[in-house]
Amino acid sequence: MRKILSSLLATVLMITAVAAAVAEITPGRQAELIYLLRQDCGSCHGMRLSGGLGPALLPERMQLWEVNQLAATILQGRPGTPMPPWQPFLTDQEAVWLATQLQQGIQP
Ligand code: HEC
Repeated sequence: MRKILSSLLATVLMITAVAAAVAEITPGRQAELIYLLRQDCGSCHGMRLSGGLGPALLPERMQLWEVNQLAATILQGRPGTPMPPWQPFLTDQEAVWLATQLQQGIQP
């Protein structure tokens, strides 16, 4: 029972952290991040994120991952593949926010 309670608590804390991360990003920065997604990520993942050199970043595929796994891929890249690390340009919160947008799908 204790184990269940503590894992529940961990989940609640994680969700709260994600929600707080999303709340901290200003609308101006959100617009910049969407621009980055379309321009920079789009150069490899396709203008409509439907795939190119890199795989499609559309919701059906993005929902196969946890938000945190996607954020880690964005921050660290995939060593040995053309997917570069974005850590120099994005905070952890911004990567989580972008991952959330990818899972929800952004307007074309
Ligand atoms: C220079 C080309 C390039 C750029 C720019 C790029 N990616 Fe990628 N990305 C790739 C490639 C290639 C893969 C596939 C890596 C592999 O083989 O596992 C990938 C994989 C991914 C994945 C994992 C997808 C999956 O289902 O396996 C995510 C998420 C992702 N990229 C997000 C982004 C985001 C967000 C940006 C912009 C901030 C970005 N990428 C910019 C080339 C790129």
